[in-house]
Amino acid sequence: MDNFIFHNPTKLIFGENQLGRLPKELATYGKKVLVVYGGGSIKRNGLYDSLMNLLDKSEFEVYEMGGVEPNPRLSTAKRGAALCKQHDIDVIVAAGGGSVIDCTKLIASAAKYDGDPWDFVIGKARPTEALPFGTILTLTATSSEMNAGSVITNEETKEKYGWGGPFNYPKFSILDPAYTLTVPMDQTVNGIVDTMSHIFEQYFHLTENTSFQDEMCEAALRSVMDIGGRLVEDPNNMELRESMMLAGVWGLNGFLSMGMRGDWGTHDIEHAVSAIYDIPHAGGLAILFPHWMRLTYPRNPKRYVRLAVNVFGVDATGKPDEEIAMEGIDRLSAYWQKIGAPVSLADYQIDDSQLELIAEKASAKGLVGGYAKLSKDEVVTLLTACL
Ligand code: NZQ
Ligand code: ZN
Repeated sequence: MDNFIFHNPTKLIFGENQLGRLPKELATYGKKVLVVYGGGSIKRNGLYDSLMNLLDKSEFEVYEMGGVEPNPRLSTAKRGAALCKQHDIDVIVAAGGGSVIDCTKLIASAAKYDGDPWDFVIGKARPTEALPFGTILTLTATSSEMNAGSVITNEETKEKYGWGGPFNYPKFSILDPAYTLTVPMDQTVNGIVDTMSHIFEQYFHLTENTSFQDEMCEAALRSVMDIGGRLVEDPNNMELRESMMLAGVWGLNGFLSMGMRGDWGTHDIEHAVSAIYDIPHAGGLAILFPHWMRLTYPRNPKRYVRLAVNVFGVDATGKPDEEIAMEGIDRLSAYWQKIGAPVSLADYQIDDSQLELIAEKASAKGLVGGYAKLSKDEVVTLLTACL
Protein backbone atom coordinates (compact mmCIF):
# COMPACT_ATOMS: atom_id res chain seq x y z
CA MET A 1 0.00 0.00 0.00
CA ASP A 2 1.00 3.65 -0.21
CA ASN A 3 2.55 5.51 2.70
CA PHE A 4 0.02 7.67 4.48
CA ILE A 5 -0.61 9.99 7.41
CA PHE A 6 -4.09 9.71 8.83
CA HIS A 7 -5.50 12.46 11.01
CA ASN A 8 -9.24 12.93 11.31
CA PRO A 9 -9.89 15.31 14.19
CA THR A 10 -13.71 15.46 14.06
CA LYS A 11 -15.42 14.53 17.32
CA LEU A 12 -18.56 12.45 16.71
CA ILE A 13 -21.44 12.78 19.14
CA PHE A 14 -23.72 9.97 18.05
CA GLY A 15 -27.17 8.86 19.14
CA GLU A 16 -30.59 10.10 20.12
CA ASN A 17 -31.10 13.18 22.29
CA GLN A 18 -27.54 14.46 22.07
CA LEU A 19 -28.38 18.04 21.07
CA GLY A 20 -28.03 19.16 24.70
CA ARG A 21 -24.27 18.72 24.35
CA LEU A 22 -24.07 21.53 21.80
CA PRO A 23 -23.63 24.51 24.19
CA LYS A 24 -20.65 22.90 25.87
CA GLU A 25 -19.01 22.14 22.52
CA LEU A 26 -19.61 25.67 21.23
CA ALA A 27 -18.50 27.43 24.39
CA THR A 28 -14.90 26.37 23.65
CA TYR A 29 -14.92 28.68 20.64
CA GLY A 30 -16.82 31.77 21.77
CA LYS A 31 -20.22 33.39 22.18
CA LYS A 32 -21.18 34.65 18.74
CA VAL A 33 -22.72 31.84 16.74
CA LEU A 34 -23.90 31.72 13.13
CA VAL A 35 -26.45 28.96 12.45
CA VAL A 36 -26.45 27.90 8.78
CA TYR A 37 -29.30 25.83 7.35
CA GLY A 38 -31.03 24.96 4.09
CA GLY A 39 -34.45 25.51 2.58
CA GLY A 40 -36.49 24.93 5.72
CA SER A 41 -36.56 21.21 6.51
CA ILE A 42 -35.16 21.95 9.98
CA LYS A 43 -38.07 24.32 10.62
CA ARG A 44 -40.58 21.67 9.60
CA ASN A 45 -39.10 18.87 11.70
CA GLY A 46 -38.61 20.87 14.89
CA LEU A 47 -34.81 20.96 14.95
CA TYR A 48 -34.73 24.71 14.35
CA ASP A 49 -36.87 25.49 17.41
CA SER A 50 -34.97 23.10 19.67
CA LEU A 51 -31.66 24.51 18.49
CA MET A 52 -32.58 28.17 18.82
CA ASN A 53 -34.16 27.66 22.27
CA LEU A 54 -31.07 25.86 23.45
CA LEU A 55 -28.71 28.56 22.17
CA ASP A 56 -30.87 31.35 23.64
CA LYS A 57 -31.05 29.63 27.00
CA SER A 58 -27.28 29.21 27.00
CA GLU A 59 -26.88 32.94 26.29
CA PHE A 60 -25.12 32.72 22.96
CA GLU A 61 -25.41 35.68 20.62
CA VAL A 62 -27.10 33.98 17.69
CA TYR A 63 -27.21 34.94 14.01
CA GLU A 64 -28.69 32.78 11.31
CA MET A 65 -28.50 32.18 7.59
CA GLY A 66 -31.00 29.92 5.86
CA GLY A 67 -31.49 29.22 2.19
CA VAL A 68 -28.46 27.07 1.40
CA GLU A 69 -29.55 25.25 -1.73
CA PRO A 70 -28.93 21.58 -2.62
CA ASN A 71 -25.75 21.81 -4.74
CA PRO A 72 -24.68 24.85 -2.69
CA ARG A 73 -23.69 27.95 -4.56
CA LEU A 74 -20.67 30.20 -4.36
CA SER A 75 -22.86 33.29 -3.93
CA THR A 76 -24.49 31.71 -0.86
CA ALA A 77 -21.13 30.98 0.72
CA LYS A 78 -20.11 34.58 0.05
CA ARG A 79 -23.29 35.77 1.77
CA GLY A 80 -22.42 33.64 4.81
CA ALA A 81 -18.83 34.89 4.91
CA ALA A 82 -20.04 38.50 4.78
CA LEU A 83 -22.33 37.84 7.76
CA CYS A 84 -19.43 36.34 9.71
CA LYS A 85 -17.27 39.39 9.02
CA GLN A 86 -20.08 41.85 9.76
CA HIS A 87 -20.95 40.31 13.14
CA ASP A 88 -17.49 39.08 14.08
CA ILE A 89 -18.75 35.51 14.43
CA ASP A 90 -16.76 33.11 16.64
CA VAL A 91 -18.15 29.76 15.56
CA ILE A 92 -20.59 28.32 13.01
CA VAL A 93 -23.19 25.57 13.37
CA ALA A 94 -24.25 23.80 10.15
CA ALA A 95 -27.67 22.16 10.60
CA GLY A 96 -28.62 20.07 7.58
CA GLY A 97 -27.33 17.67 4.95
CA GLY A 98 -24.15 17.66 2.91
CA SER A 99 -24.99 20.86 1.05
CA VAL A 100 -25.37 22.91 4.22
CA ILE A 101 -22.18 21.45 5.66
CA ASP A 102 -20.19 21.92 2.43
CA CYS A 103 -21.34 25.53 2.18
CA THR A 104 -20.40 26.11 5.81
CA LYS A 105 -16.90 24.85 5.11
CA LEU A 106 -16.40 27.51 2.47
CA ILE A 107 -18.03 30.17 4.66
CA ALA A 108 -15.64 29.28 7.50
CA SER A 109 -12.54 29.77 5.35
CA ALA A 110 -13.92 32.71 3.35
CA ALA A 111 -14.70 34.55 6.61
CA LYS A 112 -10.95 34.84 7.12
CA TYR A 113 -10.05 35.74 3.55
CA ASP A 114 -10.25 38.99 1.62
CA GLY A 115 -10.10 37.48 -1.87
CA ASP A 116 -12.71 35.57 -3.86
CA PRO A 117 -13.58 32.28 -2.04
CA TRP A 118 -13.75 30.53 -5.43
CA ASP A 119 -9.91 30.73 -5.26
CA PHE A 120 -10.06 27.95 -2.64
CA VAL A 121 -12.34 25.76 -4.72
CA ILE A 122 -10.15 25.90 -7.81
CA GLY A 123 -6.91 25.65 -5.85
CA LYS A 124 -5.71 29.14 -6.71
CA ALA A 125 -5.28 29.85 -2.99
CA ARG A 126 -5.25 27.78 0.19
CA PRO A 127 -6.85 28.86 3.45
CA THR A 128 -4.37 29.76 6.16
CA GLU A 129 -7.03 30.09 8.83
CA ALA A 130 -10.78 29.52 9.21
CA LEU A 131 -13.58 29.87 11.71
CA PRO A 132 -14.31 26.73 13.72
CA PHE A 133 -17.59 25.00 12.97
CA GLY A 134 -19.67 22.03 14.12
CA THR A 135 -22.49 20.20 12.40
CA ILE A 136 -25.88 18.76 13.24
CA LEU A 137 -26.50 16.21 10.51
CA THR A 138 -30.03 15.73 9.17
CA LEU A 139 -29.39 13.63 6.05
CA THR A 140 -27.09 10.66 5.68
CA ALA A 141 -25.15 10.61 2.41
CA THR A 142 -21.96 12.59 1.98
CA SER A 143 -19.93 12.04 5.17
CA SER A 144 -19.17 15.75 4.99
CA GLU A 145 -19.87 15.64 8.74
CA MET A 146 -16.55 13.82 9.20
CA ASN A 147 -14.38 14.66 6.24
CA ALA A 148 -12.46 17.54 4.74
CA GLY A 149 -14.41 17.68 1.48
CA SER A 150 -16.68 20.46 0.27
CA VAL A 151 -18.38 20.63 -3.13
CA ILE A 152 -19.41 24.04 -4.41
CA THR A 153 -21.19 25.21 -7.54
CA ASN A 154 -20.24 28.42 -9.29
CA GLU A 155 -23.63 29.24 -10.73
CA GLU A 156 -22.24 31.89 -13.08
CA THR A 157 -19.71 29.67 -14.81
CA LYS A 158 -21.73 26.47 -14.28
CA GLU A 159 -18.81 24.71 -12.66
CA LYS A 160 -19.03 22.39 -9.66
CA TYR A 161 -15.86 21.20 -7.94
CA GLY A 162 -14.78 19.56 -4.74
CA TRP A 163 -12.04 21.08 -2.63
CA GLY A 164 -10.55 20.21 0.73
CA GLY A 165 -7.99 20.89 3.39
CA PRO A 166 -7.32 20.62 7.10
CA PHE A 167 -9.60 23.55 8.02
CA ASN A 168 -12.59 21.73 6.51
CA TYR A 169 -12.94 19.15 9.26
CA PRO A 170 -15.85 19.93 11.57
CA LYS A 171 -14.73 20.36 15.17
CA PHE A 172 -17.65 18.14 16.17
CA SER A 173 -20.70 16.57 14.58
CA ILE A 174 -23.93 15.70 16.34
CA LEU A 175 -25.48 12.66 14.68
CA ASP A 176 -28.97 11.95 15.97
CA PRO A 177 -30.78 9.48 13.70
CA ALA A 178 -34.12 10.93 14.82
CA TYR A 179 -33.41 14.02 12.67
CA THR A 180 -33.27 11.79 9.59
CA LEU A 181 -36.78 10.36 10.09
CA THR A 182 -38.28 13.20 8.06
CA VAL A 183 -35.96 12.73 5.07
CA PRO A 184 -38.26 11.99 2.10
CA MET A 185 -37.96 8.66 0.33
CA ASP A 186 -36.11 9.98 -2.73
CA GLN A 187 -33.42 11.58 -0.55
CA THR A 188 -33.24 8.46 1.62
CA VAL A 189 -32.54 6.46 -1.55
CA ASN A 190 -29.99 9.07 -2.62
CA GLY A 191 -28.20 8.59 0.68
CA ILE A 192 -27.94 4.84 0.11
CA VAL A 193 -26.68 5.31 -3.45
CA ASP A 194 -24.16 8.00 -2.49
CA THR A 195 -22.77 5.91 0.38
CA MET A 196 -22.37 2.87 -1.89
CA SER A 197 -20.83 5.02 -4.59
CA HIS A 198 -18.24 6.39 -2.19
CA ILE A 199 -17.22 2.84 -1.37
CA PHE A 200 -17.04 1.91 -5.09
CA GLU A 201 -14.85 4.94 -5.76
CA GLN A 202 -12.42 3.69 -3.12
CA TYR A 203 -12.65 0.02 -4.11
CA PHE A 204 -11.47 0.68 -7.66
CA HIS A 205 -7.80 1.59 -7.28
CA LEU A 206 -4.38 0.64 -8.60
CA THR A 207 -2.59 0.13 -5.28
CA GLU A 208 -1.06 -3.28 -4.43
CA ASN A 209 -1.36 -5.15 -1.13
CA THR A 210 -4.69 -3.80 0.08
CA SER A 211 -6.46 -6.96 1.20
CA PHE A 212 -7.63 -5.43 4.49
CA GLN A 213 -9.03 -2.29 2.81
CA ASP A 214 -10.64 -4.31 0.00
CA GLU A 215 -12.40 -6.63 2.40
CA MET A 216 -13.55 -3.68 4.51
CA CYS A 217 -15.07 -2.13 1.38
CA GLU A 218 -16.80 -5.38 0.41
CA ALA A 219 -18.22 -5.88 3.90
CA ALA A 220 -19.37 -2.26 4.00
CA LEU A 221 -21.14 -2.62 0.64
CA ARG A 222 -22.93 -5.80 1.72
CA SER A 223 -24.02 -4.15 4.93
CA VAL A 224 -25.24 -0.91 3.29
CA MET A 225 -27.26 -2.92 0.75
CA ASP A 226 -28.85 -4.91 3.54
CA ILE A 227 -29.62 -1.87 5.72
CA GLY A 228 -30.73 0.23 2.74
CA GLY A 229 -33.03 -2.45 1.36
CA ARG A 230 -34.81 -2.76 4.69
CA LEU A 231 -34.85 1.00 5.29
CA VAL A 232 -36.81 1.82 2.12
CA GLU A 233 -39.43 -0.71 3.25
CA ASP A 234 -39.52 0.65 6.78
CA PRO A 235 -38.39 4.32 6.74
CA ASN A 236 -39.57 5.07 10.28
CA ASN A 237 -37.43 2.35 11.78
CA MET A 238 -35.02 4.16 14.09
CA GLU A 239 -32.58 1.27 14.30
CA LEU A 240 -32.21 1.22 10.52
CA ARG A 241 -31.87 5.03 10.41
CA GLU A 242 -29.18 4.75 13.05
CA SER A 243 -27.27 2.03 11.18
CA MET A 244 -27.52 3.95 7.91
CA MET A 245 -26.23 7.07 9.63
CA LEU A 246 -23.10 5.29 10.82
CA ALA A 247 -22.61 3.65 7.41
CA GLY A 248 -22.83 7.06 5.73
CA VAL A 249 -20.10 8.45 7.96
CA TRP A 250 -17.81 5.49 7.25
CA GLY A 251 -18.45 5.69 3.54
CA LEU A 252 -16.18 8.70 3.18
CA ASN A 253 -14.40 9.60 6.42
CA GLY A 254 -11.11 8.21 5.15
CA PHE A 255 -11.10 4.99 7.17
CA LEU A 256 -11.80 2.70 4.20
CA SER A 257 -9.07 4.06 1.97
CA MET A 258 -6.02 4.37 4.19
CA GLY A 259 -2.95 3.72 2.07
CA MET A 260 -4.70 3.80 -1.27
CA ARG A 261 -6.18 6.26 -3.68
CA GLY A 262 -9.42 5.35 -5.45
CA ASP A 263 -10.89 6.39 -8.77
CA TRP A 264 -13.37 9.26 -8.14
CA GLY A 265 -13.96 9.76 -11.87
CA THR A 266 -17.68 9.01 -11.63
CA HIS A 267 -17.95 11.73 -8.99
CA ASP A 268 -16.11 14.17 -11.24
CA ILE A 269 -18.45 13.36 -14.13
CA GLU A 270 -21.54 13.61 -11.92
CA HIS A 271 -20.40 16.97 -10.61
CA ALA A 272 -20.16 18.18 -14.20
CA VAL A 273 -23.68 16.89 -14.89
CA SER A 274 -25.15 18.58 -11.82
CA ALA A 275 -23.17 21.78 -12.52
CA ILE A 276 -25.15 22.14 -15.73
CA TYR A 277 -28.47 20.53 -14.85
CA ASP A 278 -28.63 21.02 -11.05
CA ILE A 279 -29.81 17.46 -10.39
CA PRO A 280 -29.35 15.60 -7.07
CA HIS A 281 -25.81 14.30 -6.77
CA ALA A 282 -26.74 10.68 -6.00
CA GLY A 283 -29.38 10.59 -8.73
CA GLY A 284 -26.57 11.25 -11.19
CA LEU A 285 -24.36 8.60 -9.60
CA ALA A 286 -27.09 5.95 -9.79
CA ILE A 287 -27.30 6.54 -13.54
CA LEU A 288 -23.57 6.73 -14.20
CA PHE A 289 -22.00 4.03 -12.04
CA PRO A 290 -23.34 0.83 -13.65
CA HIS A 291 -22.37 2.18 -17.09
CA TRP A 292 -18.96 3.24 -15.80
CA MET A 293 -18.45 -0.32 -14.55
CA ARG A 294 -19.43 -1.86 -17.89
CA LEU A 295 -17.07 0.53 -19.70
CA THR A 296 -14.10 -0.05 -17.39
CA TYR A 297 -14.51 -3.82 -16.96
CA PRO A 298 -11.73 -4.66 -19.48
CA ARG A 299 -9.17 -2.70 -17.43
CA ASN A 300 -9.25 -5.30 -14.66
CA PRO A 301 -11.74 -8.17 -15.15
CA LYS A 302 -10.63 -9.93 -11.93
CA ARG A 303 -11.68 -6.94 -9.86
CA TYR A 304 -15.19 -7.15 -11.23
CA VAL A 305 -15.35 -10.89 -10.73
CA ARG A 306 -14.37 -10.39 -7.12
CA LEU A 307 -16.97 -7.66 -6.66
CA ALA A 308 -19.66 -9.83 -8.25
CA VAL A 309 -18.93 -12.82 -6.06
CA ASN A 310 -18.07 -11.16 -2.74
CA VAL A 311 -20.64 -8.37 -2.77
CA PHE A 312 -23.44 -9.38 -5.10
CA GLY A 313 -23.37 -13.10 -4.32
CA VAL A 314 -22.97 -14.23 -7.94
CA ASP A 315 -22.37 -17.98 -8.31
CA ALA A 316 -19.20 -18.17 -10.42
CA THR A 317 -19.25 -21.91 -11.03
CA GLY A 318 -18.42 -22.75 -14.63
CA LYS A 319 -18.89 -19.19 -15.91
CA PRO A 320 -16.37 -17.06 -17.84
CA ASP A 321 -15.10 -13.92 -16.09
CA GLU A 322 -17.09 -11.52 -18.22
CA GLU A 323 -20.37 -13.27 -17.51
CA ILE A 324 -19.71 -13.24 -13.75
CA ALA A 325 -18.72 -9.57 -13.82
CA MET A 326 -21.73 -8.48 -15.88
CA GLU A 327 -24.07 -10.45 -13.62
CA GLY A 328 -22.64 -8.52 -10.67
CA ILE A 329 -23.16 -5.17 -12.39
CA ASP A 330 -26.69 -6.20 -13.39
CA ARG A 331 -27.42 -7.04 -9.75
CA LEU A 332 -26.23 -3.58 -8.72
CA SER A 333 -28.55 -1.97 -11.29
CA ALA A 334 -31.43 -4.17 -10.17
CA TYR A 335 -30.85 -3.27 -6.52
CA TRP A 336 -30.77 0.47 -7.22
CA GLN A 337 -33.87 0.21 -9.40
CA LYS A 338 -35.66 -1.78 -6.72
CA ILE A 339 -35.05 0.88 -4.07
CA GLY A 340 -36.24 3.57 -6.48
CA ALA A 341 -33.10 5.24 -7.85
CA PRO A 342 -33.17 6.80 -11.33
CA VAL A 343 -31.77 4.75 -14.22
CA SER A 344 -31.17 7.09 -17.13
CA LEU A 345 -30.46 10.75 -17.84
CA ALA A 346 -33.91 10.90 -19.43
CA ASP A 347 -35.32 10.53 -15.90
CA TYR A 348 -34.09 14.13 -15.41
CA GLN A 349 -35.10 15.21 -18.93
CA ILE A 350 -31.46 15.37 -19.95
CA ASP A 351 -30.87 14.79 -23.66
CA ASP A 352 -27.69 14.56 -25.72
CA SER A 353 -27.37 18.30 -26.38
CA GLN A 354 -24.77 19.05 -23.65
CA LEU A 355 -22.85 15.79 -23.41
CA GLU A 356 -19.73 17.26 -25.02
CA LEU A 357 -19.80 20.18 -22.60
CA ILE A 358 -20.25 17.88 -19.60
CA ALA A 359 -17.33 15.74 -20.76
CA GLU A 360 -15.22 18.83 -21.28
CA LYS A 361 -15.92 20.09 -17.76
CA ALA A 362 -15.32 16.65 -16.24
CA SER A 363 -11.99 16.31 -18.00
CA ALA A 364 -10.84 19.90 -17.44
CA LYS A 365 -7.88 18.63 -15.39
CA GLY A 366 -6.97 15.78 -17.79
CA LEU A 367 -7.84 12.09 -17.70
CA VAL A 368 -10.86 11.32 -15.53
CA GLY A 369 -10.38 9.05 -12.51
CA GLY A 370 -7.26 7.76 -10.79
CA TYR A 371 -8.02 4.13 -11.70
CA ALA A 372 -9.90 4.15 -15.01
CA LYS A 373 -8.26 7.30 -16.44
CA LEU A 374 -11.00 8.00 -18.98
CA SER A 375 -10.33 10.24 -21.94
CA LYS A 376 -12.83 12.95 -22.83
CA ASP A 377 -14.13 10.78 -25.68
CA GLU A 378 -14.67 7.87 -23.30
CA VAL A 379 -16.64 10.19 -21.02
CA VAL A 380 -18.86 11.07 -23.97
CA THR A 381 -19.31 7.35 -24.69
CA LEU A 382 -20.26 6.77 -21.05
CA LEU A 383 -22.73 9.65 -21.01
CA THR A 384 -24.28 8.48 -24.27
CA ALA A 385 -24.88 5.06 -22.71
CA CYS A 386 -26.69 6.82 -19.86
CA LEU A 387 -29.23 8.67 -22.05
O1 NZQ B 1 -32.51 22.40 2.30
P1 NZQ B 1 -33.39 21.66 3.24
O2 NZQ B 1 -34.71 22.30 3.45
O3 NZQ B 1 -32.70 21.31 4.53
O4 NZQ B 1 -33.80 20.26 2.51
C1 NZQ B 1 -32.85 19.29 2.12
C2 NZQ B 1 -32.61 19.27 0.61
O5 NZQ B 1 -33.73 19.70 -0.09
C3 NZQ B 1 -33.44 17.95 2.36
N1 NZQ B 1 -33.26 17.49 3.75
C4 NZQ B 1 -32.10 17.41 4.45
N2 NZQ B 1 -32.36 16.89 5.68
C5 NZQ B 1 -33.69 16.67 5.74
C6 NZQ B 1 -34.27 17.05 4.52
N3 NZQ B 1 -35.60 16.96 4.28
C7 NZQ B 1 -36.37 16.48 5.28
N4 NZQ B 1 -35.88 16.07 6.49
C8 NZQ B 1 -34.54 16.15 6.75
N5 NZQ B 1 -34.07 15.71 7.93
O6 NZQ B 1 -32.78 17.08 1.47
C9 NZQ B 1 -32.43 17.80 0.30
C10 NZQ B 1 -31.02 17.45 -0.11
O7 NZQ B 1 -30.09 17.90 0.84
P2 NZQ B 1 -28.53 17.98 0.48
O8 NZQ B 1 -27.83 18.50 1.67
O9 NZQ B 1 -28.35 18.67 -0.80
O10 NZQ B 1 -28.17 16.42 0.24
P3 NZQ B 1 -26.82 15.66 0.43
O11 NZQ B 1 -26.50 15.45 1.86
O12 NZQ B 1 -26.95 14.48 -0.44
O13 NZQ B 1 -25.69 16.65 -0.15
C11 NZQ B 1 -25.48 16.77 -1.53
C12 NZQ B 1 -24.31 17.70 -1.82
O14 NZQ B 1 -23.10 17.18 -1.24
C13 NZQ B 1 -22.10 17.06 -2.27
C14 NZQ B 1 -22.91 16.80 -3.50
O15 NZQ B 1 -22.19 17.04 -4.69
C15 NZQ B 1 -24.05 17.79 -3.31
O16 NZQ B 1 -23.65 19.10 -3.66
N6 NZQ B 1 -21.12 16.04 -1.88
C16 NZQ B 1 -20.30 16.33 -0.86
C17 NZQ B 1 -19.29 15.47 -0.46
C18 NZQ B 1 -18.37 15.80 0.63
N7 NZQ B 1 -18.48 16.96 1.24
O17 NZQ B 1 -17.51 15.01 0.98
C19 NZQ B 1 -19.07 14.20 -1.14
C20 NZQ B 1 -20.22 13.77 -1.96
O18 NZQ B 1 -19.77 12.81 -2.87
C21 NZQ B 1 -20.94 14.86 -2.67
O19 NZQ B 1 -20.32 15.21 -3.88
ZN1 ZN C 1 -20.95 11.35 -3.44
